[in-house]
Amino acid sequence: MYLLAFESSCDDTSVALLHDEELISMHTHTQIEHIQTLGVVPEIAARLHADHIFDLITKVLQDAKITLTDIDIFAATSEPGLVPSLLIGKTVAKTLATAHKKPLIWVNHIEGHIFSVLLERKITDIQFPSVVLSASGGHNDLYLWKSLYEIERIGGTRDDSAGESMDKVGRSMGLPFPAGRHIDNLAKKFDPRKHNLIDFPLVLPDDCLDFSFSGLKSAALREIEMRKKDHTEIHENDMIEISYSYQKIITDILVARTIEAQKQFKTASICIVGGVSANSALRTSIETFSQKSSIPYYLPKSMKYCGDNAAMIGIRAYWESKKVS
Ligand code: KG4
Ligand code: ZN
Repeated sequence: MYLLAFESSCDDTSVALLHDEELISMHTHTQIEHIQTLGVVPEIAARLHADHIFDLITKVLQDAKITLTDIDIFAATSEPGLVPSLLIGKTVAKTLATAHKKPLIWVNHIEGHIFSVLLERKITDIQFPSVVLSASGGHNDLYLWKSLYEIERIGGTRDDSAGESMDKVGRSMGLPFPAGRHIDNLAKKFDPRKHNLIDFPLVLPDDCLDFSFSGLKSAALREIEMRKKDHTEIHENDMIEISYSYQKIITDILVARTIEAQKQFKTASICIVGGVSANSALRTSIETFSQKSSIPYYLPKSMKYCGDNAAMIGIRAYWESKKVS
């Protein structure tokens, strides 16, 4: 069974072809145009999706040497996301499904991120129940994944997401958008003999599994302003200290809340998904916990499944097609 999936919820236009559970081909166009505006402008994003989506379909079909008439199921992200961006993927998918008289499966973007751990894995590889941290630019939530089709939200951010806060801190230091990856790279240059750790406060809202990053972000922005020479330039050593310290506090918070949820619900495992799951400090921290506690954890098998991508939409739709009602 061939499944053609579309993801266009933000600034990545992505098309993926799956044969049953297996990803055959995926092409993604990332809209670098937003670097200039230091953030995504919905109107521009939607136009760029429309400009690129048909070329991506052609490339994916060429890779597999098949045509649109061979597709058995179409799938697209339905929500959440930027409405003008979502509309492009949804309209293309609906048009193709209608023209070819084939089923169309709508996929929730966050469920797509959660199911991204099933790409290149068998379902029996995942120990349920699992607690899932889904951290990206657009959202930052904790879920209890009880069984394949049973997902319950148990916590979320009260203000910014971890990715968004890193993007804003990075922007203030003059890093390109999105800044998460650049902060990660700068933090790797931190040398405790040469650099100082900035003591940002560990903010964990009481009596719940929520997150709050806006106070922390403001503290980091104040620190950056203080260190800027003549209010414009920032020295590389200051950028390294801020990147390392800010990344450390963000990942400490994300991991602490995830472990708290794992303990509270006594889950058999942990999953970490979304754009921020690419972060190296986050990966090291969860690996350390897993080794000490013997609780297994699952990350997307490949970096290409961490950020927004159509393969995760395809695998969620595949499992929907297998659902026995
Ligand atoms: O899942 P995603 O591609 O899009 C949304 O659904 O938002 O996530 C993008 C977010 C951005 O905020 C980006 O800065 C962040 O993921 N990100 C990272 C890393 N790579 C991407 N954050 C921290 N460390 C990284 N290595
Ligand atoms: Zn996403």
